[in-house]
Amino acid sequence: MAMESPFKADILKGKVALLTGGGSGIGYEISYQLGRHGASIAIMGRRSQVLQAAVDSLQSHGIPAIGLEGDVRKRKDAIRVLESTIKHFGRLDILVNSAAGNFLIAAEDLSPNGFRTVIDIDSVGTFTMCHEALKYLKKGGPGKDISNGGTIINISATLHYTATWYQIHVSAAKAAVDSITRSLALEWGTDYNSRVNGIAPGPIEDTAGASKLGPEEMMSSRQHMPLFKLGEKWDIAMAALYLASDAGKYVNGTTLVVDGGEWLSKLRH
Ligand code: HXC
Repeated sequence: MAMESPFKADILKGKVALLTGGGSGIGYEISYQLGRHGASIAIMGRRSQVLQAAVDSLQSHGIPAIGLEGDVRKRKDAIRVLESTIKHFGRLDILVNSAAGNFLIAAEDLSPNGFRTVIDIDSVGTFTMCHEALKYLKKGGPGKDISNGGTIINISATLHYTATWYQIHVSAAKAAVDSITRSLALEWGTDYNSRVNGIAPGPIEDTAGASKLGPEEMMSSRQHMPLFKLGEKWDIAMAALYLASDAGKYVNGTTLVVDGGEWLSKLRH
């Protein structure tokens, strides 16, 4: 059940956002909420049917939206998608990296190429998108109002805060994402007044990530969670709104954990 947003409807008025993996799951919900708060939305994804359905849905809510096919593992796709976004909407203010690959597998059964595939999507893909987007995002410049610079949000995870069974590849990939977030926050915050942050969702209902954990694991983690419940995609989208808007104008280089305190409970298992 979608809750009403506590934010004003115009906090992102005039802004343009590009979201990788924005056609489904958490990425779609962030697209929708950024759009509901005034932003124009470009979503990038590999599957044209998924993209089209997402764009139709966004447009049915009156949100200006386009879908751009592409794979974050391909630099030429990143460049093309960014160029198309600028061509269509004229600017870029917000980049959300939510494209991710995932499957459960024991480390001894995972091929090095399987490991590399997830690193390529999550870590290298995030860097590639940030790298290619910078020239459009860096409008602020030293000494200007910090809210002028474009901003980046990288979707991460809490898997690597401890260790997570059958997630060696994703844990390593997201650890790199968190490190990328901090390095870019330092360099691009200093040079361009661009803020770079992350969000680390916990178990979120009705997502590809959650369905990869068996129902048993979901229920057992639920019993041990401080808030005894799964998160909603809405919770992640509200965090994204906070970070993308002026509400978060002094937040830079942090990865905001939105998990109801779930990862803390892993420490005592
Ligand atoms: C073992 C697998 C595998 C699987 C792929 N590989 N799937 N190994 N189990 N289920 C291995 C292959 O054997 C191959 O290695 C290598 O990975 C590349 O496989 P391809 O099929 O060629 O890759 P590709 O078609 O590019 O697909 C990559 C993909 C992707 C990562 C499998 O399709 C995918 O994950 N899609 C789902 C996206 C998703 O779930 N997103 C939500 C993420 S949620 P070899 O050696 O054989 O060549 C999230 C949150 C985490 O990230 C927190 C909650 C758990």
